[in-house]
Amino acid sequence: MAVRLKNKRVADMVAPLIQIRRLVKTYQRAGENIPVLMGIDLDVARGDFVALMGPSGSGKSTLLNLIAGIDSPTAGEILVDGVDIATLSDAQLAQWRAANVGFIFQFYNLMPVLTAFENVELPLLLTGLSKKERKAHVENALVD
Ligand SMILES: Nc1ncnc2c1ncn2[C@@H]1O[C@H](COP(=O)(O)OP(=O)(O)OP(=O)(O)O)[C@@H](O)[C@H]1O
Ligand SMILES: [Mg+2]
Repeated sequence: MAVRLKNKRVADMVAPLIQIRRLVKTYQRAGENIPVLMGIDLDVARGDFVALMGPSGSGKSTLLNLIAGIDSPTAGEILVDGVDIATLSDAQLAQWRAANVGFIFQFYNLMPVLTAFENVELPLLLTGLSKKERKAHVENALVD
């Protein structure tokens, strides 16, 4: 039986937080394949701070979108905290992102028809938080 601590497998807690294996991402545009990530492996340790550097168009945003579960890989494994997010359905991924991912986009991606409060509250609608709890979170995030 696997050793568990706070309901997590100890083996998962000491393993790298992110383990990427043979990751492939190919976009299709106008009937043409655009290979971007061609079988990459990457480990990121728990608590590490990593900067991803490379020329424009080299696939940095593509990789981050895959690690954050915003996009799906063409092939390969993306293990985050023991979960292979490449195998999750869209609905499971949405729940997983709401619980695990914080992401600041290059171009902000705010909803222009929503207020600042509503933009911050939006992802919290996917969680089990009450309206009052959401308000407390939003005010905490927006007050400097
Ligand atoms: N949705 C898409 N459909 C088709 N091709 C795409 C798509 N998104 C990105 N690409 C292509 O994939 C390649 C990698 O793009 P990506 O945005 O990941 O690069 P980047 O390293 O983040 O660049 P930058 O430094 O400009 O942000 C580029 O050739 C880009 O044109
Ligand atoms: Mg980018």
